[in-house]
Amino acid sequence: MTERQSIHGQWSSRLVFILAATGSAVGLGNVWKFPYITGENGGGAFVIVYLLCIAVVGIPIMMAEIMLGRRGRQSPINTMASLSQEEGANRNWSLVGWSGVLAGFFILSYYSVIAGWALAYVVRASVGEFNGLDAGGVQDLFNGLVGDPERLLAWHTLFMLMSMFVVAKGVKAGLEKAVTFLMPALFVLLVVLVGYAMNTGYFIQGVEFLFKADFNKLIYSCQVVNDLEQCEVSGSPLLVAMGHAFFTLSLGMGAIMVYGSYMPKKASIAGSAILIAVLDTLVALVAGMAIFPIVFANGLEPAAGPGLIFQTLPIAFGAMPGGQFFGTLFFVLLVFAAWSSAISLIEPAVAWLVENRNMTRIRAAAWIGLTTWVLGLGTVFSFNLWSEFKLFDKTFFDLLDYLTANIMLPLGGVLIAVFSGWLMKRESSRDEFAMPSGGYHLWWYLIRYLSPLAVVVVFLHAIGIL
Ligand code: TRP
Repeated sequence: MTERQSIHGQWSSRLVFILAATGSAVGLGNVWKFPYITGENGGGAFVIVYLLCIAVVGIPIMMAEIMLGRRGRQSPINTMASLSQEEGANRNWSLVGWSGVLAGFFILSYYSVIAGWALAYVVRASVGEFNGLDAGGVQDLFNGLVGDPERLLAWHTLFMLMSMFVVAKGVKAGLEKAVTFLMPALFVLLVVLVGYAMNTGYFIQGVEFLFKADFNKLIYSCQVVNDLEQCEVSGSPLLVAMGHAFFTLSLGMGAIMVYGSYMPKKASIAGSAILIAVLDTLVALVAGMAIFPIVFANGLEPAAGPGLIFQTLPIAFGAMPGGQFFGTLFFVLLVFAAWSSAISLIEPAVAWLVENRNMTRIRAAAWIGLTTWVLGLGTVFSFNLWSEFKLFDKTFFDLLDYLTANIMLPLGGVLIAVFSGWLMKRESSRDEFAMPSGGYHLWWYLIRYLSPLAVVVVFLHAIGIL
């Protein structure tokens, strides 16, 4: 096969690919979502399942996505179409790309609203609104924000404009440089917060919550109602943990595939995937270690839901020396982390519009931005005007989140695994990976059997069959 070139350009080095992919992986998923879903699902046991999923499902599928992307060198839709032709499979495999584009729209529509909260908190931190606040004060502050549709709308709009701007310029010219130093800075600040958490007197309790496994909590989901704990059998913690492994690594919808299509030929795929997964996991665990001690020290509820970090971290910033500065910096960095993730959610769609509709990146980004912005209104209102409107006991935001993270991404991941493990010829994947045979065989075994099986088992468990 003659080697393809991407019409969209290429990362200048392996390091840049790693930065971009880590920028995509590390985002609100690590700092905002991981703590709140861990809190909702009882801690330790949930975290262990999540870590297992990263290892046996996440890393092999990430390798597969990068491999397919680099071999196809096009948007995921066209990559899947060309590769399936080349490998003698049905062309309809391009549907994996289409479902990914849809999932990207859905995710970005609410991701942008939550990133808007972080933007709002930059302003609040910088004017000293957190100073001396107690748990009640912080809760009022949060409720004041999410209860106000106009404010949410304004911040959502700003974040969408920021994301479209970078995507229009091209991912490479856009965020490449910023990500290089902002992500390490976010990590350092999280470590500072862990330092604060160590002084709350509840550090051990927080860490135990994160790492001490009570496997009953995976089977029963319990809620405290009128001071009584009520438990019911539930299949969802396993599914949520697995879904989050996909979400946090940006897998299952083509984001990593499209980034892989800009990857230099010689760079190691396995090494990059492992490094990205380790960095991403580290950020999530450190965020958890910062947040839970603060939760317990202030008598807050770990299962507080999507507002968790916005109702806990300000207490820490309000109390620590230099908190006004650190608080501002923290939310600025969180915005950057979200920003470098958001662009990867629409890059597959933009690349396709450029390839197939001959659009400029600017036009493509504008159209996609507008569509996503409109869809985002649903999430904006789900926290206020429509908060009572529920389907399957879920608000519009909860539904979108559940549908994407727990269903669409794992499904996309299984299809990617089946394609690269069963339909693609071994010589093809082997040639693209170009890695030692021991590593290749391990990957091949995982992608053919263990990864898809794990996802299917969790699905069946969630619908009550297993
Ligand atoms: N991984 C990002 C986070 O943790 C979110 C994200 C970016 C994503 N691109 C994605 C999730 C693609 C799923 C698919 O915040």
